[in-house]
Amino acid sequence: MLPRLSLFALSQLAGGLAGAWLAGPWGAVAGLCAAPWLWLAWDGWQGARLLAWLRAGEGQQPRLAGPWGEAADRTRRLLRRGRQRERAADARLAAILAALQASPNGVTLLDAQDRIEWCNQTAQEHFGIDAGRDRLQPIANLVREPEFAVCLAASEPGAGVLLAGRAGTAARPVRLSVHLHAYGEGRRLLLSRDITQLEQAEAMRRDFVANVSHEIRTPLTVLVGFVETLQNLPLAEAERARYLALMAEQGARMQRLVQDLLTLSRLEGSPPPGLGDWVDAGALLQGCQGEAQQLSALLCPPGQGHVLAIAAPDGAGTGAAIAGSAAELHSALANLLHNAVRYTPPGGRIEAGWQPLADGGLRFFVSDSGPGIAPEHLPRITERFYRVDAGRSRGSGGTGLGLAIVRHVAQRHGAELQVASTLGEGSRFCIDFPPARVRGAAAGSA
Ligand SMILES: Nc1ncnc2c1ncn2[C@@H]1O[C@H](COP(=O)(O)OP(=O)(O)OP(=O)(O)O)[C@@H](O)[C@H]1O
Ligand SMILES: [Mg+2]
Repeated sequence: MLPRLSLFALSQLAGGLAGAWLAGPWGAVAGLCAAPWLWLAWDGWQGARLLAWLRAGEGQQPRLAGPWGEAADRTRRLLRRGRQRERAADARLAAILAALQASPNGVTLLDAQDRIEWCNQTAQEHFGIDAGRDRLQPIANLVREPEFAVCLAASEPGAGVLLAGRAGTAARPVRLSVHLHAYGEGRRLLLSRDITQLEQAEAMRRDFVANVSHEIRTPLTVLVGFVETLQNLPLAEAERARYLALMAEQGARMQRLVQDLLTLSRLEGSPPPGLGDWVDAGALLQGCQGEAQQLSALLCPPGQGHVLAIAAPDGAGTGAAIAGSAAELHSALANLLHNAVRYTPPGGRIEAGWQPLADGGLRFFVSDSGPGIAPEHLPRITERFYRVDAGRSRGSGGTGLGLAIVRHVAQRHGAELQVASTLGEGSRFCIDFPPARVRGAAAGSA
């Protein structure tokens, strides 16, 4: 206020002095009267320029004197600070939305009327909604499952429900776990999570426990039965010996099962073998050949043994080596050979060996003239405890884990297990090792 009054007084003094200088005392009076009006006009013009600049909201700040200039400066600074704050808030909002967008779970923001305000890409896929098209659409119109409507109506915090995801098909259903959380003034956060794999893993775990229990219960029941018989009945020495032999067989079966389970869990829980250790392919085959011959001699009546042709055609694999774990590779190859021996009737023909692949890889193959496997069993044959003929497999001491172990070993060595079989004609199992894990194999066509 003081500067304006000073300016006003100064303008009057200047008017009076100018009037006196130009026209004497009357001039001074006229100057004194005119000066305030001139000052008022100039002051009004300054104010009008400031207002015009503020109304425009943009453009160069006008150069104004005195308090108008200071008002313009302060207004400009205030505006600049406001814009900075606005930009920072925008950036924060963008960062929060980007974080929500990156969330592996579906995030949908609902307003007080349960209409969609915003949703991330995952939520769009889960509920089959379009963030742009369906904005401000009531969520109940888009997710119409009755259980979701009940959950939406429930007011308790964190209400949840399980729904079928839109991306699912009859063959591959998708399961969603959906939860609602209240926030702000009547708003709600809809969180959705794909739990398909979790449910599958849980189902697998249940199956696994059921299978293991079943596999253990059978020999255990037999064992307990024999123990009771031995305890309660006076048996002849020969009969006692027979019972004890049967008990030892059941005990060995349980031991095999536990060993196979431990092998599987070790294979699943440890990192894949590195490329540093090389295992001689010929020596591997030789080791398995001896075991297969012994098993064949054990299973077949004398003179009716299998025809075993376990050698590489034209010496393929001789001098070749595979990078990996010797124990695991031996277990995989032996499992395939043992299956061929166990499931091929006496007198049948079994061939096994190495074949170089065109890409520089190496194939281990086992083919037999056994009963073969029906096509409907082939996709499941490497599942744990899956048996084509359960009675036959158990009768021959099988646990149903052999091919599951082979598949794991193959995967850990970057190899692929292939099965081809014709019912009544025989089966052929191959493990194709990639060139990166093979050295010294003469390239050829498989
Ligand atoms: N060469 C084969 N010929 C015919 N059937 C086979 C052959 N190899 C495997 N199978 C079938 O596949 C099933 C699964 O084989 P897998 O080796 O996993 O289990 P297993 O032989 O029953 O028990 P083990 O754990 O002792 O190997 C077998 O039960 C058998 O029915
Ligand atoms: Mg087997």
